[in-house]
Amino acid sequence: MNSAVSPSAEHDILVPEWWRQAVVYQVYPRSFADLDGDGIGDIPGITSRVPYLADLGIDAVWLSPFYPSALADGGYDVADYRDVDPRLGTLDDFDEMLAALHAAGIRIVVDIVPNHTSDQHAWFQEALAAGRGSAARDRYIFREGTGPDGTEPPTDWDSVFGGSAWERVADGQWYLHNFAVEQPDLNWSNDEVRADFVKTLRFWSDRGVDGFRIDVAHMLTKDLTEPLPSRAELDALPRDGKHPLIDRDDVHEVYAEWRAVFDSYDPPRTAVAEAWVDPARIPLYASAESLGQAFNFDLLEADFDAAQFRRIVTSNLALAAESGSSTTWVLSNHDVVRHATRYGLPPAERTPDGRPVRKHGNEWLLSGGTQPALDRAAGLRRARAAILFVLGLPGSAYLYQGEELGLHEVAEIPDSERQDPTFFRSPGADLGRDGCRVPLPWTAGGTALGFGGGTPHLPQPAWFAAFAVELQVGDESSTLSLYREALALRQRLQTDEGLEWINTGREDVLHIVRPNGWGIIANFGAESYELPAASVVLTSGPAPAGSVPGATTVWVEPA
Ligand code: NOJ
Repeated sequence: MNSAVSPSAEHDILVPEWWRQAVVYQVYPRSFADLDGDGIGDIPGITSRVPYLADLGIDAVWLSPFYPSALADGGYDVADYRDVDPRLGTLDDFDEMLAALHAAGIRIVVDIVPNHTSDQHAWFQEALAAGRGSAARDRYIFREGTGPDGTEPPTDWDSVFGGSAWERVADGQWYLHNFAVEQPDLNWSNDEVRADFVKTLRFWSDRGVDGFRIDVAHMLTKDLTEPLPSRAELDALPRDGKHPLIDRDDVHEVYAEWRAVFDSYDPPRTAVAEAWVDPARIPLYASAESLGQAFNFDLLEADFDAAQFRRIVTSNLALAAESGSSTTWVLSNHDVVRHATRYGLPPAERTPDGRPVRKHGNEWLLSGGTQPALDRAAGLRRARAAILFVLGLPGSAYLYQGEELGLHEVAEIPDSERQDPTFFRSPGADLGRDGCRVPLPWTAGGTALGFGGGTPHLPQPAWFAAFAVELQVGDESSTLSLYREALALRQRLQTDEGLEWINTGREDVLHIVRPNGWGIIANFGAESYELPAASVVLTSGPAPAGSVPGATTVWVEPA
């Protein structure tokens, strides 16, 4: 919580339930700041930027995986859950970063990846060496193949990243990988697997970590009783808690055990679930007996559209109320096209139930950034209006590094420099997620635009320079200044969770009022909206007195 009274940074760290209305900033460590100059962002780089994070005014940092990894999936292929990738630093560096964040009143949430390990993990290497029927193989999901000599995979299931979900090993058995080949799925029916993750949660909690983001939280437990269903059979099954692979009720037995671990600390450690499930089942993950909070990804798929935003706010506040948790607002993360870019493109083509037909914005990447035409200025203006609306909502807000600079997606990464497995496994039909993971521009010139001394691991385009932190810091009209001002004001205006919708008489203008009178008026349309009498405290863009121009949000206090 952005507590109204904050006697000291250290005191604030001890507030339980701090997460309910927190602003959490996602750091993708390999692209944030590179202190040792090897082209890959590192932990000391983050420590060196704590003053920047403190000035921004966030409550917590969520750190994407920083563990040893062969980087087959941007670090989500973890080779050792209780260490730091040597290219990123050491455990001592981690402790120093944590101490610096805490001293600045910023909490830290780390990413836990329990559905799969890296194929470089000691357990998987042991499983390969130990052979069929071994205890080591039982930590993963190994099966015999089908067809003559077992040369066909056990089933025709697809991996999330494209291609078969099974890979054959030298002795002829196959293992399940719902993501990349290098990410074998763990067997959550295995007690050793369960015990080891408890050990990992304790390891980081003991070091002072405040919370966890749980990767693919809806896929850990599986029912792989033979005969295994075909892909078509799987697709036809309801997602009602008994599906063999997805969103099974029994996954909450795992989280109940984790809950006991979280609650054994003071203040209790928090968790937020990455769970792509039927919205009606989100409260199961967000309940206090399970992980406590779950991501709401609806805005990642929405256009800059008042009706869509209003529907999403209403439904997610209702879901949060059902679980007793607070909801989470996310406009961008490391898996999607940045929202300044999405909003600069024509609205997504949608299915009758409102889902985008393709990954929203990805078709623009496929054309190398030319089709459909991107309106960068409109996209940024809308992005600024959207974030001001979102930061006025009850619940916590998750920001993704670089959005505070107004960064656009980078479309122009040469194929030879791409890293994302979704690009290689599609193959090439999906340009993947590298475009939102390009190292940040800290300065307008110099090596790697101030990211670090070496060649950045993903190339920065020339236009990144204009978005550099150093240019935005002293510029009142910059996006960085807007974020800073909004977060400081949010701290002052923060109030009970709750809101009232005010009738604006316009379908494209949303007006909400929070319990203390803090008003948020967002104009998603093109025509100006006349402002009711109130004192304006912040606007997302130029706004003449008494009006909210199109694609603009204003914050008001009662006159
Ligand atoms: C979700 C993460 O956000 C994504 O980046 C990753 O590729 C998959 N989980 C697999 O771990």
